[in-house]
Amino acid sequence: MFESKKLGVTQKIMSDLTGVPTPTINKIVAAGSYTPIDANVRRNIRYTVEDTRSIIQKTLYKLRTDLPKIITFYNFKGGVGKTTLCYQVSSHLALMGFNVLVIDADPQGHLSTSLGYDTETEFLTLYDSIIGNVPVTDTIRNVYTGLDCIPSNIGLSRLEPSLSDKSHSQNFISACLNPVLSKYDFIIFDTNPTISHINRNIIMASDLLSVVVETQAYALNGLKLLLGDLRSFCSETNISLPKITIIPNKYEERTASSGEAMAVLRDHYSDYVIPNFAVRRSEELHTSCKTATPLAFFCRTNSIALEDMKEVIKYLLTGKES
Ligand SMILES: Nc1ncnc2c1ncn2[C@@H]1O[C@H](COP(=O)(O)OP(=O)(O)O)[C@@H](O)[C@H]1O
Ligand SMILES: [Mg+2]
Repeated sequence: MFESKKLGVTQKIMSDLTGVPTPTINKIVAAGSYTPIDANVRRNIRYTVEDTRSIIQKTLYKLRTDLPKIITFYNFKGGVGKTTLCYQVSSHLALMGFNVLVIDADPQGHLSTSLGYDTETEFLTLYDSIIGNVPVTDTIRNVYTGLDCIPSNIGLSRLEPSLSDKSHSQNFISACLNPVLSKYDFIIFDTNPTISHINRNIIMASDLLSVVVETQAYALNGLKLLLGDLRSFCSETNISLPKITIIPNKYEERTASSGEAMAVLRDHYSDYVIPNFAVRRSEELHTSCKTATPLAFFCRTNSIALEDMKEVIKYLLTGKES
């Protein structure tokens, strides 16, 4: 679908996404047999998803060996940016050459809409795999090379009552993902904003929880509760707490409330936050989800949204900020 619209990724954007200098990317392109999507274009030449994946893989910095495999975007508040960041991180990890499965665990299906699905239509969801015994492979769809998804629609809301009938000590999510675990470098969940059985199950299966918070007045009030709830849930169920990274979002430099929220995070949650980092508010992030087009396909060079996504991804891959 992206290629039919002649969408692709330029060398400069590959550089912006990875932090690898443009001349290094230029050299790899010159040495390889990469064909521009549109032969008539002389400037801002774009390359296919497959070529982008191949070029970026050749530049990748040394990766951690203990990369978190199952990553969950979580907060029981809605509207904080879980879906937005989940969408960007998943689609760009795939453009960087990783094999990614992104799973929409929210019956509202906002992530699925961003991935290009019409959530009014019927399709298989996580519900069919967990309750209906449909093999998980039958629920997986391909978005583009490297990016698979399990989309959701309102049908997924049947999952919660069904799960509450079963013993919640069982981990349905781990069992469901087991057959495809080795196929992916990352399995990434977008969650619904509740304390629900499905979210509990996803937490049990996760290696990393990315807790997205808004940097606005009162936005952090629920954070203590959220972390306390996670700790007591893990101790009750005898599992170790997954690694937690708090990602501050919608940061606005000029507002006092953004600064205050960052100070609270620094003073009280420094073990969990990426130092001195927040995802800034930007129209491009909003547009990207709305138009079902990952940033790298359309953003301007030196885009602050892409720069912030680069930081989040780099932190996930290396445990370090730039
Ligand atoms: N950094 C950001 N800059 C601008 N808009 C953002 C940003 N993060 C999220 N949004 C917008 O905020 C709204 C809620 O985000 P969403 O990802 O749907 O939240 P959640 O999944 O937590 O409910 C959406 O309209 C989204 O486009
Ligand atoms: Mg959402």
